[in-house]
Amino acid sequence: MITVEERAAELYEVIRSCTMCALAETRNHAVPGEGPVPAEVMCIGEAPGVNEDKQGRPFVGAAGKFLEELLAAGGLQRDEVYICNVLKCRPPGNRDPMPAEIEACAEYLDLQIDMVDPLVIVTLGRFSMSRWFPQQAISRIHGSVREFDGRLVVPMYHPAAALHQQNLRDVLLSDFHQLPAILERARVGRLPALATNVAKEEPVSMAKPALKVLPSESEPNALQPAPEGAQPGQIRLFE
Ligand code: URA
Repeated sequence: MITVEERAAELYEVIRSCTMCALAETRNHAVPGEGPVPAEVMCIGEAPGVNEDKQGRPFVGAAGKFLEELLAAGGLQRDEVYICNVLKCRPPGNRDPMPAEIEACAEYLDLQIDMVDPLVIVTLGRFSMSRWFPQQAISRIHGSVREFDGRLVVPMYHPAAALHQQNLRDVLLSDFHQLPAILERARVGRLPALATNVAKEEPVSMAKPALKVLPSESEPNALQPAPEGAQPGQIRLFE
């Protein structure tokens, strides 16, 4: 029987020789992704940049350095996390991914999620976010948690955004600080219990402002707005 590592190696070979879209003509190296399979945490970025295209590895430039800092703030080391991108090839000039390119790469990401089987998916930036939260504004939902098919998905700003906007640095650090608590809840097998607290996938039009789960005297674990001065460690959830 084929092992998960062999399955990953096969997939990476397919991605490295992919010609499903025109980015194959301009790339130096496709960047499949890297990290342990399975892994508890999977980070999904946007697309390789110039350094990633040179090396064939994700997040090896300045954004990658900051991602490692963020992971450390979340109690994680880079080598325990699976890291990949929505697009496996660099768009020329680092332009935004185009819908047809996202579509061409979508099956690779599906296979990676299946293979890595993460408890928690961290989306970095709006392109990976929109796979689970289409039409949502990252400024509103960053750092909140929603369950999809038994996994918790946490949208975060892209680390590169903080390289240009200093104020996002603290926002990202604060969101990554929540990771241990989010992971712990997923780890201890509380997903069934969480399911009563964490909103399930629902039409986006029904989505309401993010809330925090806080114990209430009358109704333990009820969803209610976070009070003034709510402490970090309380997981911010989507209703
Ligand atoms: N930005 C991304 O989204 N991915 C990378 O791999 C590097 C920078």
